[in-house]
Amino acid sequence: MSQIRGRFKKQAHELVQKYTQSISYDWRLYDYDISGSIAHARMLGKQGIITKAESKQIIKALENIRTEIKNGKLDFKPELEDIHMNIEARLVAMIGDVGRKLHTARSRNDQVATDVRMFVMEVGALCMDGLQELQETLVDLAEKHVDTVIPGYTHLQRAQPVLLAHHLLAYFEMFERDFHRFAVSLIHTSVMPLGSGALAGVPYNIDRQAVAEELGFNQISQNSIDAVSDRDFVLEFEFAASLTMMHLSRLAEELVLWSSSEFDFIELDDAFTTGSSIMPQKKNPDVAELARGKTGRVYGYLMALLTTMKGLPLAYNRDMQEDKQGLFFCADTVLTTLVLFAEMLKTLRVKTENTTAAVNKGYILATDIADYLVKKGEPFRTAHENTANLVRYAIEKGKSFSELTLDEYRKFSSRFSKDVFDITVASSIAARDHTGGTAKNQVLKQITRAKIILTEEDEQDTQKG
Ligand code: ARG
Repeated sequence: MSQIRGRFKKQAHELVQKYTQSISYDWRLYDYDISGSIAHARMLGKQGIITKAESKQIIKALENIRTEIKNGKLDFKPELEDIHMNIEARLVAMIGDVGRKLHTARSRNDQVATDVRMFVMEVGALCMDGLQELQETLVDLAEKHVDTVIPGYTHLQRAQPVLLAHHLLAYFEMFERDFHRFAVSLIHTSVMPLGSGALAGVPYNIDRQAVAEELGFNQISQNSIDAVSDRDFVLEFEFAASLTMMHLSRLAEELVLWSSSEFDFIELDDAFTTGSSIMPQKKNPDVAELARGKTGRVYGYLMALLTTMKGLPLAYNRDMQEDKQGLFFCADTVLTTLVLFAEMLKTLRVKTENTTAAVNKGYILATDIADYLVKKGEPFRTAHENTANLVRYAIEKGKSFSELTLDEYRKFSSRFSKDVFDITVASSIAARDHTGGTAKNQVLKQITRAKIILTEEDEQDTQKG
């Protein structure tokens, strides 16, 4: 079996094979393709569409092909286009005419849709595991830093003091939403297309449910045209991957900034940094930078497939073969990035002496001073204005808040009294004592909640097996 050219008088143009082949990348689907074919062959035998003996023979040969491919023993041929044809050709070479019966009641269109769905089901579950691992690491690190204070930033300007644990747990929340996005995308993915044939269904007494159960699908598709036409499940996966990468890229950026000499809040472990080829003093945060950089390509593939699918008439169109390279890149990238980030966070060192120094510099307690005036009866806008004038005065005098005298304070509001000196970084943090605030007991509650969420998700995992 070479290319399917029975209908044609001429050979294809010399460039066509290279242009249309997908075996150079879709060989990665071989395991799913073989499992799909085995389930299909078993069903054909049970339903009497082929004999039980034929079914057995096909299944045995397919298992041997699986081992061959695993051991790198099968030479894929580009003239056979894709993984489906390469496996089928090998089957026919092994068992002859019986092998030619496997493609009964099936088409490459429902076959490829099944393979890709199985791939997404597997990598989607791995992404969820990777997110959980990273979340656990974040919670562990947060637990170590419930007393470490850092400046919180807006516009990358020091804004208000926060606990480092609070800052880290913000990422826990983002990754929790990502986890659920993957979970939802998997509900949509776990729908089996086999039995749709090319597009209209197949004229045999098939048992789709049995095939779906064997392959681990939760449902079977309800419309054969939809089943072979859509790749929205790939897009949903890529969207979930894109948002995960977006969150990772923000964490990456903070790791880059925090490990710079300018911030000097953390030191990344040597295992996740590299040296410069000409500047011996440097320790570059390459892993974090590449995570930031690769995010662009993940988004690109999401946009590429959205564009490929736009305006395609029903049902299958060859354009859809373009779904795979992007999908593989997105899956590989998000999975590896998740693992690397968990490891990177486990090994990073926080330089608490520097974070403390950074919090004590600047006028980071200005909001607390304004709130102090509000609590003494000043309207918030007035308090804000008076505090702004106070800050300008302090800057001009080159003094910090604690170095100003009460008389100096009182130039800006008569409501200031001695207790203004009770405003400290610690009091600022302790005051934000409500759900979602940075007070230590609230952050401890977040940690408890995070641990419960992770344990519940773990338990659901074990129940599923
Ligand atoms: N390699 C093809 C793909 O990835 C498989 C389906 C081919 N179907 C067809 N009718 N040419 O989409």
